Amino acid sequence: MAFWKPGTVAPGSTIDRETGNEDALAASSANQYAHLSLTSQRQRLPVYKQRTKLLHLVERYPVLIVVGQTGCGKTTQIPQYLFEAGWAAQGRVIGCTQPRRVAATSVAARVAQEVGSLLGDEVGYTIRFEDLSSPTRTRIKYMTDGMLFREAMLDPLLSKYSVIMIDEAHERSSYTDLLLGLLKKVRKKRPELRLIVSSATIDAQAFLNYFNSNIDGADRTQDDAAIISLEGRMYPVEVAYLDEPVTDYVRAAVKAVLDIHLKMPAGDILIFLTGREEIDRCAEDITEQMYDLPAGASKLLPLPLHAGLTSEQQLFVFEPAPAKTRKVVISTNIAEASITIDNIRYVIDSGFVKLRTFNPSTGMDRLTVTGASLASLNQRAGRAGRTSAGKCFRLFPEPALAKLPKSTPPEICRSDISLFLLQLKALGIDNVLRFDYLTPPPSVMLARALEFLYSLKALDDYGRLTRPLGMRMAEVPVDPMMAKILLDSDEFSCSQEILTIAAMTSVQNVFVTGEGGEGAICEIEKRKFTAEEGDHLTLLNVYNAFTGPGKQSAKWCHSHRLNFRALSRAISIRGQLRKYLQRFDIPIISCGEEESQIRKCLVSGYFKNAAKMQPDGTYQSLRDRASLSVHPSSVMFTRVAPTGYVIFHEVIETTKSFMRDITVVDQDWLKEYSGGYYTSRASQRAK
Ligand code: CDP
Ligand code: MG
Repeated sequence: MAFWKPGTVAPGSTIDRETGNEDALAASSANQYAHLSLTSQRQRLPVYKQRTKLLHLVERYPVLIVVGQTGCGKTTQIPQYLFEAGWAAQGRVIGCTQPRRVAATSVAARVAQEVGSLLGDEVGYTIRFEDLSSPTRTRIKYMTDGMLFREAMLDPLLSKYSVIMIDEAHERSSYTDLLLGLLKKVRKKRPELRLIVSSATIDAQAFLNYFNSNIDGADRTQDDAAIISLEGRMYPVEVAYLDEPVTDYVRAAVKAVLDIHLKMPAGDILIFLTGREEIDRCAEDITEQMYDLPAGASKLLPLPLHAGLTSEQQLFVFEPAPAKTRKVVISTNIAEASITIDNIRYVIDSGFVKLRTFNPSTGMDRLTVTGASLASLNQRAGRAGRTSAGKCFRLFPEPALAKLPKSTPPEICRSDISLFLLQLKALGIDNVLRFDYLTPPPSVMLARALEFLYSLKALDDYGRLTRPLGMRMAEVPVDPMMAKILLDSDEFSCSQEILTIAAMTSVQNVFVTGEGGEGAICEIEKRKFTAEEGDHLTLLNVYNAFTGPGKQSAKWCHSHRLNFRALSRAISIRGQLRKYLQRFDIPIISCGEEESQIRKCLVSGYFKNAAKMQPDGTYQSLRDRASLSVHPSSVMFTRVAPTGYVIFHEVIETTKSFMRDITVVDQDWLKEYSGGYYTSRASQRAK
């Protein structure tokens, strides 16, 4: 049952403005929370001491930049203080954006628990394909930055929000950057709207300057923005390095875990690796090593933390370790700042991160593992010093620091921005070159993205959004290529099948993998669904088998080494995408046996991601002749494309550039359905 009384307190009325009397507020909140078991925990967080000042500043300054150590309570507490001060009265909503889905869902769950609300009631969240919020009852809404940006397409002034907190702004995700620009515009029309920009690091000055300057040079009599710094207490963290570089940092991490476990005092461990595969391998290795621990030694509890986890799985990492057990959280950089886990005393840092970067030679994004920035390393080490003095073990020699960048460049300056430009245009911001970017993307990337949108027919000869195609592409919650494929699918008479493929490519890890004998079983099971034409049709086969009569059981999935959760999620996503097609009056038809229709349709969106097979079995990207390989997870890994041509969903770069989700296509289709992408005239015109 909720304890809130929405709408009873007006903004500012709990604060004695003359004296800024904290006691009055403390007393009133103490009463308010008397029956809450988590109250004491809430009030101990560092941000609590400054809540009166914070609330004052929110009233005085339309834009408040909040800087504070990770874990000081910015994300979970500030929206609650705002609520208590009445900012959600009269049906208004306090919104808080996160760059990461995992952060949005776990923080919302925590805050709902703190206030005694059911998740999805007073406190809710919205992430892509998952909405756990109520349009009428939710007062504090956590969401990914991308979802708020989408909301602006339906309600350009974001009129239901009284305060919007752009959290983790230091991460500089593309949507965060775009939201800052958008909200700066919205603020001119809605001066009463309050913005809070929160950042874990101290580069707040850039945000301040941005909001205190006008691109149009208009006069201003007073500053819009101010900074408040919430000092959290930090204990010293001792940093140690390896003498020599290692070739396998996962193995080095496991060794470090054992060293800590056998030689050092109690305290949990947090490991930073770059992705799911590494994390799973590390967790398995730790589990194996546990058998060799001396009799009587306390146990190790490895816990993975990455974006692929379900909401329930994420919650494990926050649970205190059982008695005589040391928790080992193995994480991507999610745990760097977005998520705080208590009681971490030791950090083991690979020094690497997986980043999305634009590869000018292929004209598409790649995911690459690269050295983390100095700012990241610092932030990671800091995770060890929250509750007591800590230690950070860096799995590389100290001189390697000299080669690392000071900070990570903003995502909008290093990744494919076609989706963002499409959405900006859908918001009516036609001149995307003149948008007030916090950091403008390089002009070559803007040009490439516009050219690509033109070839997808989302833009016309004048660079305007086409209607209805371009407008709808911006609206459907999948990337522009898949959006085009979906919206065209009725022309190829295969919307039924494409809906499934779009849903299946939106979920991760459909196939279970394993090591040794189990790995072989997984392979054999996968073969039962494999289509010669590639991964997209294989995914379609899996979905159809799963949804066939009487098949939707976890047991069936287990016996076929399929991920039940992933498939259940695909059903839900398919349903949501289906609603878009229905709203657009796109008939849902099946191509029956004519599977080539599906592959043609895929070409109509994926033509940019096309590659030609080479005599040695590797591939070359069609447009720029970059060398590409088949990812081992693809069914094409052990097959050759009879036509010599394939299209693919994305490129992952590790030791090589690997194509993922691959389908065999005909060369003629690439000419016919690529909107002139492979002829220079079209690209000239778009520029
Ligand atoms: O946003 P910031 O990094 O300043 O801190 P926060 O996310 O608001 O976290 C404040 C406190 O709540 C930390 O001590 C977290 O460990 C705790 N917390 C938690 O226990 N479980 C969550 N799901 C989220 C936060
Ligand atoms: Mg936070």
